[in-house]
Amino acid sequence: MFAYRSFLLDSARHMQSVEEIKKLIDALALLGFNKFHWHLTDDQGWRFECACYPALNGAAVRPFSDFGKTCREGPYGRVYTKEEMREIVAYCAERNIDVVPEFDMPGHTGALLSVFPELSCGGAPVKIKTHQGIFKDVLCPAKEKTFEVVTRILDEFLEVFPGEYIHVGGDETPPDHWKACPDCRKKMKECGVRSFAEYQNLFMNRIVEYLAQKNRRCIVWNDTAKGKNLDKRAIIQYWKEHHRASVRFINAGGSAILSPFSYCYLDYDYSITPLNRVYALKPTLPGLTAEGRKRILGVEGTLWTEYVEDDETLERLVFPRLIAVAKAACGENGRPYPEFLEEVRSLAQKMPAFAFADEKEWTQPRAAVLPGWVRFLKSHFTKKSFQDLVS
Ligand code: ACM
Ligand code: ZN
Repeated sequence: MFAYRSFLLDSARHMQSVEEIKKLIDALALLGFNKFHWHLTDDQGWRFECACYPALNGAAVRPFSDFGKTCREGPYGRVYTKEEMREIVAYCAERNIDVVPEFDMPGHTGALLSVFPELSCGGAPVKIKTHQGIFKDVLCPAKEKTFEVVTRILDEFLEVFPGEYIHVGGDETPPDHWKACPDCRKKMKECGVRSFAEYQNLFMNRIVEYLAQKNRRCIVWNDTAKGKNLDKRAIIQYWKEHHRASVRFINAGGSAILSPFSYCYLDYDYSITPLNRVYALKPTLPGLTAEGRKRILGVEGTLWTEYVEDDETLERLVFPRLIAVAKAACGENGRPYPEFLEEVRSLAQKMPAFAFADEKEWTQPRAAVLPGWVRFLKSHFTKKSFQDLVS
């Protein structure tokens, strides 16, 4: 049984009601999870009610949404109030679950930069994003103001979320603007870093140190392991499956949480990631030393919500696949799959309040993957959002 058994809910792209979140937390408790990773900030919305910078609360609203099949006119979004977030923390605590909030940086900061464009390299106005993608609008790590603003916000996170772990993102950070920024180039030279990955880690390491002084541990996505200078106190979350850099980090003393996307990303269609695939997860990485294996802290299933705007869709994606994630996290996914299926059927009977995917979708052959991807991509982009993505 791993110490860290977690589920990520993305409330930035689409929000869920407090009632729905509590319902999901009931399921987490039933299945043996002990962490709730709450993704609260991203390019398309800021969800953390902020007292130190009240203008930031305006970055909760995007003017419209263009996520392909979830394409909607009109403004979308609000922050979760402090009271609501504290209610979730208390609800989790009663069930022995810690909330691990995520403030994603220095990429995925389109909402933050829409209010604080001066924290980007060029300082030009930034629009909150209305479609999915990886965006070049990222924080400028060379500006002292960037560190000042994010740490002030982090202080406020710490007041609301008392748990040991804070997730500070670190994924998908294109260095395009850093390349052209005199401040960034100067800082890179002064600090003697050889790559943008290492440059990003100067910033991540400062955050790790800042939070360590407040007795908190930082989790970062494993994109950061590409820079060899990542502070070993950071815990990487392995989602990208090019694993060499991650294994190097872990073998050298770092720790990790596993959520390889081709097993643990529950937003993908069942044809791409069927229940049998999730159940087959081996929660280790080839190449780890015996000591390194001990530093795999746990497993997380994730639900990203670009294409998930209602509770029924959300639940059908999550159930029953989250049961397989729970089994991997509890070290109980070694039994034959047919026996597991029996258990899933009986659990489904005990969870009548939840929408489960139809049983005919659960188990699929590998041959279903390619047509699954074609359907997935077609339904998830409009012509405009596809053009925006590739431009
Ligand atoms: C991620 O899926 N960008 C962590
Ligand atoms: Zn810069």
